[in-house]
Amino acid sequence: MRCVEQDSLSRRRSIYQLNDHLPVSEICFVETIEACVKHCPTPFNAQSARVAILFGKAHKLLWQNIWDSLQTVVSAKQSNSAKKKIDSFANSAGTILFFEENKTLMSLKKQFPQYAKNMRLWMQQANGMLQYMIWQTLSENEIGASLQHYNELIDKTVNKIYDLPKTWELVAQMPFGAIESEPMPKTFLPMEERVRVIK
Ligand SMILES: Cc1cc2nc3c(=O)[nH]c(=O)nc-3n(C[C@H](O)[C@H](O)[C@H](O)COP(=O)(O)O)c2cc1C
Repeated sequence: MRCVEQDSLSRRRSIYQLNDHLPVSEICFVETIEACVKHCPTPFNAQSARVAILFGKAHKLLWQNIWDSLQTVVSAKQSNSAKKKIDSFANSAGTILFFEENKTLMSLKKQFPQYAKNMRLWMQQANGMLQYMIWQTLSENEIGASLQHYNELIDKTVNKIYDLPKTWELVAQMPFGAIESEPMPKTFLPMEERVRVIK
């Protein structure tokens, strides 16, 4: 076994300062996301994660909708910084929307009643694995991204806007683009607190 290349893992960060100059073609980008969706492991090989990749007008529309809802709930004091944040997402190259197909969840619960109470949790875990797999893969291709959860503001409307099945439940949003500026260094807990080697 080769030792893990730590640089490649540590380079994946939450990048908020992004622009819309993707360093790869849209076709290549979509194929890369499809490969992650295809090969990410899933419980019972159920493949319940769904993604929508938004570019151009569709991407701008998402952040416009989020801002329209957000500005009705943020205070006047928070409004400027909230708008700046939303604008930074809108100015990126696109957004990946992550969903779970609820039909798959229902059918698996029926098929495996003994696991029914854990099934939703496992599906969400698998969706998180896919989010990370894509995030890491983008980072390895010099594409910055962050993970966002504006679900409550848009989950009633997003399926309608993009004509997606009603059974797709929104899980997360990942704006992506070319990296304008690197994030601040982050702190880490001592490894002894988090990993124990037991023989
Ligand atoms: C499950 C999960 C949910 C997250 N949700 C958000 C979010 O809603 N908004 C956000 O800006 N960052 C979100 N993050 C990013 C974390 O804040 C970030 O990964 C963490 O602070 C470490 O920073 P790094 O991504 O630069 O390594 C989320 C990360 C994970 C794993």
